Amino acid sequence: MPALIPATEPLLARTPLLDSKNQDPVPASGSPVRWGVISTGRIASTVVSDLALLHDAVLQSVSSRTQENAEAFASEHGFQSAYGDDGGLPGYQRLLQDPAVDVVYVATPHASHYAVAKAALEAGKHVLCEKPLTINAREAEDLVRLAKDKSLFLMEAVWTRFLPSVQRAAEIIASGELGEVRWLQADLGFPAPHNPESRLWRREDGGGALMDVGVYPLTWALISLGRPQSIMATAHLTDGGVDSETALTLSYSSGAQVQAMTSLTASTPQTATVCGTKGMLRCNAPLFNPTELTITSGSGEQRVEKFTLAGHGYTYQLREVIRCLQQGLHECPTMPLADTLATMALLDAARAQAGIKYPAD
Ligand SMILES: NC(=O)c1ccc[n+]([C@@H]2O[C@H](COP(=O)([O-])OP(=O)(O)OC[C@H]3O[C@@H](n4cnc5c(N)ncnc54)[C@H](OP(=O)(O)O)[C@@H]3O)[C@@H](O)[C@H]2O)c1
Repeated sequence: MPALIPATEPLLARTPLLDSKNQDPVPASGSPVRWGVISTGRIASTVVSDLALLHDAVLQSVSSRTQENAEAFASEHGFQSAYGDDGGLPGYQRLLQDPAVDVVYVATPHASHYAVAKAALEAGKHVLCEKPLTINAREAEDLVRLAKDKSLFLMEAVWTRFLPSVQRAAEIIASGELGEVRWLQADLGFPAPHNPESRLWRREDGGGALMDVGVYPLTWALISLGRPQSIMATAHLTDGGVDSETALTLSYSSGAQVQAMTSLTASTPQTATVCGTKGMLRCNAPLFNPTELTITSGSGEQRVEKFTLAGHGYTYQLREVIRCLQQGLHECPTMPLADTLATMALLDAARAQAGIKYPAD
């Protein structure tokens, strides 16, 4: 039986488009914004190297569970302050007390996002938090409520939405060139070595394929078709209780269908194909950071559009966060909180069907 998706707030039909003529993320868009980065892990390092490219981003502070790691990361990337755990106070709490930090980027494992982002909002900091925003919709709703109460900026770091290629795909879909979208196929799988200590495989960290990469095929679904009416999910669970594969079918009131899959064991095409009554659009791999779109008309004519990236591609998202803060916005129009809540509701419904449970549920 498909799970019906509960209606919360009306969802924007498609991703709002950025100004396609203003796609250079590097020049300043206003006065400097001072960043605090929570974690010294893999993605924190890559995103910070992109942040350093933006002229109005200040690398202010970094925190880690150890002072040594915080200092090493600070000296590698040029942060002004470094905070590790000290006397029972976590490094991130020490960073949150730093009055020089305007906004924090949370890049810890999923299961800690809620506590860390909540502490940041309570400390009066704006928040950009890695995906998935939280472990479940209840936690996400709590953070959204808190950010609204405190008049602070909150955004889930779904960087893919901000890429020029994905913005262009959204533009093509909205233009009607593909006709009415009836079907979407999107997948993201890669063989991750099975390591019971890794966050990818640990239930306590929110491990599994769906939570790690499900947001990317779901982003293509939201961009192409908006919010579905129902979802069906099946998964294979490891002995540790996380999903190594999950397959999703989304159904829309128009009759349109989405097939999405995620895997931590198989190499998959890692592409998205949007199929309409007049043609189709396919992005090249990986669907979270495509540089090519192939548009095929109903009569078989093909056109390829190519895109270049500034940095690793996180620059576009970071530019928009900075621009929102400079303009006093508490929510980013390109990654609205309603879309994050809709995604969390889809993940909750899929997990309930597939039997994936986390300690925070
Ligand atoms: N947007 C993207 O492209 C992208 C790509 C990969 C991952 N992510 C997301 O980013 C997050 C981190 O992924 P990652 O691959 O960077 O993981 P990772 O390499 O394991 O790094 C996570 C870091 O968080 C800190 N940490 C570990 N356990 C913690 C805990 N229990 N509480 C607080 N901090 C803890 C550690 O840093 P310290 O030792 O310094 O404390 C660790 O190095 C995940 O939520 C993931 O979904 C996003």
